[in-house]
Amino acid sequence: MIIFNLSNSIMPQIRFPQTKSQIPILSCVVISFWLFSCTPNSPKSLPLAELKRSKESIVVSAHPLASEAGKLMLEKGGNAVDAAVAMAFGISVVEPFSAGIGGGGFLLLGTPPENSETQQYKIRALDFRERAPKAATRNMYLNEKGEVEKKASLDGHLAVGVPGTVAGLYNIHKSLGKLPWKELLKPAIRYARDGFELSDNFVSKLERRLEVINKNPAARDIFTKNGQAYQPGDLLIQTDKAQTLETIAENPQSFYTGKIAQAIATDMAKAGGLITLEDLRNYTPIWREPICGKFRQAKVCAMSPPSSGGVHLLQILNIVGETNLQEWGRENPDTIHLLTEAMRVAYADRSLHLGDPDFVEVPVKELTSLSYAQRRRQEINLTKVRRSTEVQPVSPEVLRSNILESPDTTHLTVVDKERNVISMTYTVNGSFGAGVVVAGTGILLNNEMDDFAAAPEAQNLYGLVGDEANAIAPRKTPLSSMTPTIVTENGRLIMATGSPGGSTIITTVVQVILNVLEYKMNAAEAVSAPRFHHQWLPDKLMLETGGFGEATVNELKQRGHNVVMRRGWGNANVVVLHDSGMLEAAADPRGEGEAMGNGQ
Ligand code: GLY
Repeated sequence: MIIFNLSNSIMPQIRFPQTKSQIPILSCVVISFWLFSCTPNSPKSLPLAELKRSKESIVVSAHPLASEAGKLMLEKGGNAVDAAVAMAFGISVVEPFSAGIGGGGFLLLGTPPENSETQQYKIRALDFRERAPKAATRNMYLNEKGEVEKKASLDGHLAVGVPGTVAGLYNIHKSLGKLPWKELLKPAIRYARDGFELSDNFVSKLERRLEVINKNPAARDIFTKNGQAYQPGDLLIQTDKAQTLETIAENPQSFYTGKIAQAIATDMAKAGGLITLEDLRNYTPIWREPICGKFRQAKVCAMSPPSSGGVHLLQILNIVGETNLQEWGRENPDTIHLLTEAMRVAYADRSLHLGDPDFVEVPVKELTSLSYAQRRRQEINLTKVRRSTEVQPVSPEVLRSNILESPDTTHLTVVDKERNVISMTYTVNGSFGAGVVVAGTGILLNNEMDDFAAAPEAQNLYGLVGDEANAIAPRKTPLSSMTPTIVTENGRLIMATGSPGGSTIITTVVQVILNVLEYKMNAAEAVSAPRFHHQWLPDKLMLETGGFGEATVNELKQRGHNVVMRRGWGNANVVVLHDSGMLEAAADPRGEGEAMGNGQ
């Protein structure tokens, strides 16, 4: 058993607000310096990602074939936008369970300034998230007793939001793409037409969704052999999807007003779905201001609402404040405890305040203000856990009073030789989305409607709860956790990152950023390092199995954390740019992605 010396030794370099609980914890930090080692810990029994380097340009995604598509575009003279679009269409074919043309997402685009000494990177954010159909209603997932019918928002046509991927990719291409649009779809069309070998990962996800997939004849035809899941090593050919991609290559608008739109609307009408031709015709991606804030010297920019990612990423980093986490050590229980309590607060606030900013007022400035972070930090007891019932989202009035100053998704990152950068996270939500393929098109549809709060306190697929701000309404966008992020410093790119993982996305991105900025890890170490996660409700601290020493786990339990050990989650990737001009990238070893450089 670990006995802490509660004497009053103080480490002056730890700049944490003075609270009554501080002195014991600082002693604890001193003691745990040798008990837990305050230097960055490498993963204990977790694999290390492969590190790729390139002077010129680099791509990284969740699948080698998608990365290859991006690399090819760069070799043809394309830029980061061209590569990202080709990769996104590639993912749609080789990883349809995670994201695709039947889903939606967010991206951040960074373009370098002419003079990095005097000017900032220009960062813009594109929202191509799914929207609720016009016929959606607030209580559409409640039965006669007023109870949530969980499966209705997850499986089948009623779960589907109006897809935004094709419109988003076309929009970003129009803004900065160099290569002809048609060129960008060629690799994806080839993968769909010629097929690709299925991995263990693909098949295990398929097996878990087999029952739902088998209920939809078009999905069953594509993903099963007479109702039996394909096996690892089998070739998956998607002829209908190849045809659909050919049509999109000719005319992307066909997805929203042409024959693809017609096929979607017909399928919906037949199967009790809500999406109509009008919904598709009205779909528009939206350029938004990203959320940006300072962490140390760096400027961290991430996705703004209707994703909660950027707001809570910054909120957690603000709560960390000037705490010298590097000195504390990554695996130090104090570090994990502080970050966990910050996560708890952020997710509590998320449940009340976050929603589609075109429908509700989201107090972004307040939630990301340093004064609010300071207030929340002072509430944290560094020696003792608070139960989530003791931590409530702060009321809008209190928030305003604080303004003293101004299970399946995918991520890809590209940096080109001009140092344009794309950080893009997109999704069909749950694995294989709604389990529904639009007959004759190969398009697997999302179940993004589950990201709305079906009722106050009803949990979504990820256990997240929401309220009024995220209630269902026609044409509203469901709240997301996706956190595509770009970090710059004085007009120079430092890193770009993101991850899938539903509710765990935000905390994964926080940790990858801290791993690079605070613990000085390289890209491979940063995505490989063990993770932890807390999301307020359920009141559990998830620690990655095999990632944390026994002493650390025991100490966290002793402080009152409800520790649960979980196998690795997320599938992050990251690109880091060094002062020397060298790019390095790595794909999460928990997935099967790959980084590829050009001009090494
Ligand atoms: N569908 C998961 C998210 O957007 O957060």
